[in-house]
Amino acid sequence: MNGIWRKKPISAFEADMHKSELKRVLGKWSLTAIGIGAIIGGGIFVLTGTAAHYHAGPALALSFVVAGIACIFAALCYAEFASMLPVEGSAYAYAYGTVGELFAWIIGWGLILEYAMGAMTVAVSWSGYFNKLLKLFGLSLPTNLTNDPFTAQGLAINLPAFLIVWVVTMILVRGIKEAASANNIIVVMKVTAVLFVIIVGAFSVVPANWVPFIPEQTMIAGEGGKQQLAYGVTGIFGGAAAIFFAYIGFDAVSTQAGEAINPKKDMPFAIIASLLICTALYIAVALVLTGMMNYKDITGEALKAPVAVAFEKAGKPWAMYIITAAATAGLISVMLVMMLGQTRVFLGMSKDGLLPKFFRDIHPKFKTPYKSTILVGFVVSVVAAFTPISLLGDMTSFGTLFAFAMVCGAVWLLRIREPQLQRDFKVPALPLIAMAGIVTNVFLIINLNVLAQLLALGWLLIGVVVYFVYGKPNSNLEKGN
Ligand code: ALA
Repeated sequence: MNGIWRKKPISAFEADMHKSELKRVLGKWSLTAIGIGAIIGGGIFVLTGTAAHYHAGPALALSFVVAGIACIFAALCYAEFASMLPVEGSAYAYAYGTVGELFAWIIGWGLILEYAMGAMTVAVSWSGYFNKLLKLFGLSLPTNLTNDPFTAQGLAINLPAFLIVWVVTMILVRGIKEAASANNIIVVMKVTAVLFVIIVGAFSVVPANWVPFIPEQTMIAGEGGKQQLAYGVTGIFGGAAAIFFAYIGFDAVSTQAGEAINPKKDMPFAIIASLLICTALYIAVALVLTGMMNYKDITGEALKAPVAVAFEKAGKPWAMYIITAAATAGLISVMLVMMLGQTRVFLGMSKDGLLPKFFRDIHPKFKTPYKSTILVGFVVSVVAAFTPISLLGDMTSFGTLFAFAMVCGAVWLLRIREPQLQRDFKVPALPLIAMAGIVTNVFLIINLNVLAQLLALGWLLIGVVVYFVYGKPNSNLEKGN
C-alpha cells in the first residue's frame, strides 16, 4: 500500500504547465463559451417536464435555484484551483496535489463517467433529436438504423449517434481553434433559442398555473407507476436532483488550462460566468414552462418534450422547429466539450505516468492529443451506436457530483496545508462554502437512481484494480521522476 498517499508537488505541476505543447489560443470569452457549450443541452428541454410533474410543480424554478447553488459552491472551488493549478487534469490533478495518488486516480477514473459516458448518452439523445427534426420535414430513417440492437430487438445500429461522434472527433483532432470556433457558433444559436423560449413563452404564461407555487405534499403515481411522495419542500430537492444533469459541464472549462492564454485569471472567470449565465436562463425557462402549462398536465408526450409541447398547446406549433433545431445543434457542442474534457484529463494522467504515453502524443501539426481523441471517439461512437446507454445517464451525474464534492474538500485542505500559495481567485468564506458544497453534492448523489449508484460504485472499484495493476507501478512518482 506504500505510495498511495503520495502527492504531486505543486512545483511539478508548474513545470508541466511550462512544457505544454498545446496551442494557447483560448481567451476569457471562448472559455466561457466552452462552459455554456457543455452546459446547455438536452437537459433543459427534456428534464424540466419530469421534474415539474413528479417532483416540484411550479416550484421547479426553485429546484433550479437549489441545483444552481450546489453547482456554485463547486464552481467557486473549481475556480480557486484553476487560479492556482492551471493544469489539464481538472479535479484529478487537484486531488493529486492535495489528497494523494490513489484518490486522484479514482477521481480521474470517475471523470470518465462524466465526460466519456456523458458524451455517449448525449450522442444517443442527439440521434433522437435529429430524427425528430427529420420527421418535422417529413423524412424518417428506418428503426434499425436509429436504435441500438437491444432496443430494436434485432440487427440494428444507431447510425446518427455513431456518425455525429466521428464528426465531433474530427473537429477535435483538427485543432482547438477549430473546435472553439464551432463551439462559439453553436453557443450563439442555442442561447438565442433559449432566449426565444423565455421571451416568446412569457406572452403565453397563465399566472394561475403558478398557484400554489409550492403545491402541498401529496402521494402521486410516480414514473414507473409506483406511488411516491411529491411536491412540498422535499419535492423541490427531488426536482433539483432530477434536473442536475442540465447543469453538468461548467467544470469542463477547468480541463482547458493548457490551451488558455491566461489560465489563472480567465478560467475562474469562465467557470463562474458560464454557470451564472446558464442558471439565470434555466430559472427563467422553468418559470415560463410551468406558467405556460399546468404541471399536472405535463404527461405523455409532454414529459418527453415539455418545452416543445407547451408551445404547441399555446398555439405556436412552429416553435417546435426552432426548439428541435436548437437542441439538435446544441447537443453537438455538449459532446464536443465533453470529449475535449475527456482527452485533456487523460493527457494530465498520462503526463504523470498513470496512463500510457499514447494519451499524451501530440499531433505535430494540429497540436492536439490526436491518438487519444480518436480512441475516445471510437469508444464513444461504438457504445452510443450499439448499447442502450441512455438508461444509464444518472451515472454521468454520479461521476460529476463525486468530482464536485472532492474538489470542495480538496480546496479547503490545500488552504490549510499551503496557505502561502499564490491564488488569483479565492473562495470567500471558505470552510463554509466548501462544507456546503460537500453536503449538497453528496446529498444529490444519494438522490440519484439506485442502479446508477451501484453501477458507478462498481466502475470505481474496477478503477482501483486498474490503479494497482497499471497506474501505481508506472507512476512518475514511483520511478522517482
Ligand atoms: N448539461 C448538459 C445537458 O443538459 C449535459 O445536455
